[in-house]
Amino acid sequence: MIKLSDLTLTTPPSGIRAVFNRIAESEDVISLALGEPDSHTSERFIEAAVKSMYSGRTHYTPNAGLMDLRRAIAESYGNRCILPEQVIVTAGGTEALLLIFMTLLNPGDEVVVMEPYWPTYLGQIRTVGAVPRFVRVYEEDGFVVRKENLNQAVNEKTRIILLNSPANPTGAVIHKETMEFIAKLAEERDLTVISDEVYRRMIYEEETYTSIYDVPGMEERCLIVDSFSKTYAMTGWRIGYIIAPVHVAKALETMHEYSVSCISEPTQRAAIAALKYGEDFVRESLDSLKRQRDRIVEGLSGVHGLRCRKPEATFYLYFNIEDTGMRAEEFVYGLLEQEKLALAPGTAFGEGQESYIRLSFANAEETLDIAAERIRRFVHQNCRCAERREGEAHI
Ligand SMILES: Cc1ncc(COP(=O)(O)O)c(C=O)c1O
Repeated sequence: MIKLSDLTLTTPPSGIRAVFNRIAESEDVISLALGEPDSHTSERFIEAAVKSMYSGRTHYTPNAGLMDLRRAIAESYGNRCILPEQVIVTAGGTEALLLIFMTLLNPGDEVVVMEPYWPTYLGQIRTVGAVPRFVRVYEEDGFVVRKENLNQAVNEKTRIILLNSPANPTGAVIHKETMEFIAKLAEERDLTVISDEVYRRMIYEEETYTSIYDVPGMEERCLIVDSFSKTYAMTGWRIGYIIAPVHVAKALETMHEYSVSCISEPTQRAAIAALKYGEDFVRESLDSLKRQRDRIVEGLSGVHGLRCRKPEATFYLYFNIEDTGMRAEEFVYGLLEQEKLALAPGTAFGEGQESYIRLSFANAEETLDIAAERIRRFVHQNCRCAERREGEAHI
């Protein structure tokens, strides 16, 4: 009998995947459960990959990535003066994070994570024997962390503060003043900050955005994680990167050998093409996402028992169902069964999230209209608060 590790036996499957697996068995389901843009990769990026394959570029590449790509990534940060040697190319943001945890953490070290959080963080931190310390963020604060709660979460075992701004699943952006507070805390307590910025090109009011990397002094204690997945509709290619101080980048390069070694050359060539030719695509995607966001918020307005804030960024709507009297999983699985619409339960993003549902709106506006109608009908039929059914809209 093959035995599984204690880690495996105590790691639950992702709550989003659970919905996904259920959809696989049903027909005619509209899925707004996964974090994927609905567009396909641009032909121009595909051509670059195919061309490289036909010209024999089918071999291993350096662990840190092709110098052409590292240079292009560094240059894409404009006047931030990032060196190509600071860039490590990874298999998406997912592998970037795991590689960082493998390289920086010892068993028992603590990582501060805001809840709700992208569920992969939890499994990855535990994989290296470290401990996540959750700090809850609240709807009434725009899902931005309270300074006093962050302060309290840091102790002598804390090594890393993990930031995700803009955030999955809330769409929240941490503004300058809070970033400066976090930077000061990191400096005082000698902490590293990991800034997961995979949604940074999906911000609707760009002037609201600050990266912690831009707070003076932070480039020495901050690692940026980014990815081509969401920005360039390249989720299936599995390519992303880390920006780190040079000595940390060297350590990441060494450790990369023991995870995936290196990323396939055609994929890296497609990423170079994305950086070179992809700006129009990024701008057009943002315009349509903005329309899609407004459409779904409008579609759900007047559904009694639902409450949501328009997200400042990302393609996620994180709405509150408390007043329907239902809890997240009951809502999601009921909606799936009765209306054939798949969403993600808040409980996939943290224990205290029973009153929330995530809807991924990177989809055709007509589909969003149908989804809104199905939600409206479902809530009307299942809402336990009769007086609310007749009452005023909350959105
Ligand atoms: C917050 C966050 N970080 C990182 C990732 C990783 O994306 P990928 O591995 O596709 O680059 C995701 C994907 O959903 C995410 O939501």
